[in-house]
Amino acid sequence: MARILVVDDEPRVLSAFQDLLDSGGHDVATAKAAETALKAIDSERFDLVVMDICLEGMDGLEALRRIKQHHPGLPVIVMTAHGTMQTAIEATKLGAFDYHLKPFDPAEMLGAIEKAIEGARLTRDQVVLDPGRTDGITGDAIIGNSSEMQQVYKSIGRVASTEATVLIRGESGTGKELVARAIHQHSRRAEQPLWVVNCVAIPDTLLESELFGFEPGAFTGATVQKVGKFEQANRGTILLDEIGDVSLGVQAKILRVLQERRFERLGGNETIHVDVRVLAATNRDLEHAIADGTFREDLYHRLNVVTIRIPPLRDRKDDVPRLVDYFLSRYAQELDTPKPPVASDALKLLRESPWPGNVRQLAHCVQRALIFTRGYPIQAADIPLEGKVADGLGSAVWTESLEDLVRRFVATYAGDHAHEHFMVHVEKSLIAEALRQTGRNQTRAARLLGLTRPTLHAKIQKHKLNPERR
Ligand SMILES: Nc1ncnc2c1ncn2[C@@H]1O[C@H](COP(=O)(O)OP(=O)(O)OP(=O)(O)O)[C@@H](O)[C@H]1O
Ligand SMILES: [Mg+2]
Repeated sequence: MARILVVDDEPRVLSAFQDLLDSGGHDVATAKAAETALKAIDSERFDLVVMDICLEGMDGLEALRRIKQHHPGLPVIVMTAHGTMQTAIEATKLGAFDYHLKPFDPAEMLGAIEKAIEGARLTRDQVVLDPGRTDGITGDAIIGNSSEMQQVYKSIGRVASTEATVLIRGESGTGKELVARAIHQHSRRAEQPLWVVNCVAIPDTLLESELFGFEPGAFTGATVQKVGKFEQANRGTILLDEIGDVSLGVQAKILRVLQERRFERLGGNETIHVDVRVLAATNRDLEHAIADGTFREDLYHRLNVVTIRIPPLRDRKDDVPRLVDYFLSRYAQELDTPKPPVASDALKLLRESPWPGNVRQLAHCVQRALIFTRGYPIQAADIPLEGKVADGLGSAVWTESLEDLVRRFVATYAGDHAHEHFMVHVEKSLIAEALRQTGRNQTRAARLLGLTRPTLHAKIQKHKLNPERR
């Protein structure tokens, strides 16, 4: 549940928001004027502000400027009526998270709201670097005290306070995004947002517009101006995630930003200067890509000022027991069940698995084991590794989809439905899992679970599965 301030001079709009956000399980406060809103923001904690830009008295842009000055990390979504598109652009430049034209689609607005809240949480919630104990951690943490991970922590400490571009490398699921967040949070820019651009699987023009923005007429369909992420991230940090997947054309443009800290919007002549720290992450073999001619060597050297390599989990097996303990604590707390101990055969299995999906895969596996363990402690048989587990663990790969999980669950516990508390526990697990798999997209999660959206909403409320974890 997030606390949201809605600012609009039309009572009708305020009550529409009240309904919309109530249904999303959020706590809403309203203000009719910028002055009142600013006072509220100074005296109370909010997770998000949604504000109309055309207000009587102090105008919305001025209010936004002040909010960003005193509370740079507080995300602001601005709304505007059609006539004032230009103002919306100005607002984005001032650091507004997003802008929406009135009238807006409620589902889209709710989606933007959830995204803004999650984005702010990722910037704000400190990533803890391996504390001594793994229980009682409420937010995200990088767990592991192997010498390999100690090296990673040292590198984070060394580079964080510099302005250096950092290339974060590691296989999928090794924690590259966590490391990026930790660097940003320990940097001088920590008060400003961290903007993440996922470069994978976006067609070129879309990625370019996302990064650099565009002018009206830049291409068919570009009717208005758009501010890109590099411009929005001014004074903050930008993470170019999956940089190894970017095309050569876009690589050239990114290279120029790294060299000169300036660029033009697509179809524009004005040169825009930005003060932005760049972090990049990839799971690709860039040296190989250079040899293939698919990655520019000059860009590689620019990104590679400092490289942090996160070793795959199979090369630091000593971290496994700690990670298992951490995820058990975390999920047991989420599911509101006691944390079960782990039998030594189960731990051995977990330690010896090759974990092609690294820590992410281990986390999912622990979560599933927790769902299926009714007798304590967790036994090897509870661990959902699939493949030829028997003959050595070489090919053990976890592949279970949510549907399979449900099927297996029904098969395992058929006739056992009497235990109501247990069913509640399972329902909660399944919903949590569906939200995770869909990136908290409630429409898709509802479809996956075969529920209507309002039903899913209600269940999310009931199980307190809203994003906030404080
Ligand atoms: N050392 C760790 N301790 C605790 N959690 C971790 C660790 N490493 C990864 N995780 C968790 O595993 C998941 C995957 O991590 P993350 O998204 O940072 O990986 P990634 O390297 O960016 O993967 P990909 O290349 O697939 O994007 C996240 O939920 C993250 O919190
Ligand atoms: Mg990632």
